[in-house]
Amino acid sequence: MTDAFTEQLVAWRRELHQYPELSNHEFATTERITAWLKQADIRILPFGLKTGVVIEIGQGEPLIALRADIDALPINEATDLPFASKNAGVMHACGHDIHTSVMLGVAYQLKALEKTLAGRVRILFQPAEETFNGAQQLIDAGALEGVQAIFGLHNAPDLPVGTLKTRGGAFYANVDRFTIDINGKGAHAARPHEGIDSVVIASQIVTTLQTLASRIYSSQESVVVSVTRFTAGNTWNVLPQTVELEGTVRTHNDAIRAQIPVKIESLISGIASGFGASATLNWQPGPPALVNTQQWADFALELAAENGYHTEVATPQMGGEDFAFYLQQIPGAFVSIGSASDYGLHHPSFNPDEAIIGQAVDYFTELAQRALKAIKPR
Ligand code: NI
Repeated sequence: MTDAFTEQLVAWRRELHQYPELSNHEFATTERITAWLKQADIRILPFGLKTGVVIEIGQGEPLIALRADIDALPINEATDLPFASKNAGVMHACGHDIHTSVMLGVAYQLKALEKTLAGRVRILFQPAEETFNGAQQLIDAGALEGVQAIFGLHNAPDLPVGTLKTRGGAFYANVDRFTIDINGKGAHAARPHEGIDSVVIASQIVTTLQTLASRIYSSQESVVVSVTRFTAGNTWNVLPQTVELEGTVRTHNDAIRAQIPVKIESLISGIASGFGASATLNWQPGPPALVNTQQWADFALELAAENGYHTEVATPQMGGEDFAFYLQQIPGAFVSIGSASDYGLHHPSFNPDEAIIGQAVDYFTELAQRALKAIKPR
């Protein structure tokens, strides 16, 4: 890559960073990406998306896909960077601006190599990753039709630039969300025996939910249960009638994932009914675990080592990533690449090292070419 091209990609990344947009509202972002792709005469596929862009380079079969996510978060940026967000309350705090600039660079490089490609490369500039519904929109639009393998990246602020990790099998977690409504009987705080104290019941539910991970499932399984909201009452001398709890469950094993809401129902109804109260679970399934194809994860790691990355086999993570929806449909691999930020993902001071961009562009350009050659004709 020439220095001038790297500078161009950094400039585009900074422009995206200055004008971040929330999930499913990436209108100006889509316009920018489209304009930059058109400058290189890159073929835009007519999927009729509200936001997001899908392009294709090359001819014939096989067909592989690469994916970048393009949305930002409802966070007020706290960096003093010269290119800090100009959209108040919205920030590229997950580095999707980095992912987008990487795939813009790959698009340009593959376009220059178009005549030599052993097939077609489709690049998905996907909206709404943060709300976990963008990948499904592209699948519904038909963006995976004919695609034989898909690859994507997330920057990893805890890793140094030049490090790449992935693993075959489950990598990111099943992400589920829940609320629990506890209905007791309100009373004067001085006479709790006249009511049914929903605060005490909810407190027991919070601690009992921790036994899912420690006493109900094997310590060898990954199960995280976090209650993140406990909403009750509005003053000091009234015991409230109701409490609402909210939280998340993270797992990698699909069988355990399916059992957990049943277990939670049984635990909370047992506790609540013991006191004469009721507890109702509202379960909201999120994205499934991201399961890399072993062969493509190995391929991605080997190629990274050849391209000068320090590589490691990753340990499973408890975060979620909607790239998982693509991997439910077709084979592929998702990788983590070091971006060395002092502050983590979704932090208002998140500031990834832009040095990640050039190396990742060269890596995915090579990966696309080599993946096409590795796929046997159908
Ligand atoms: Ni992200």
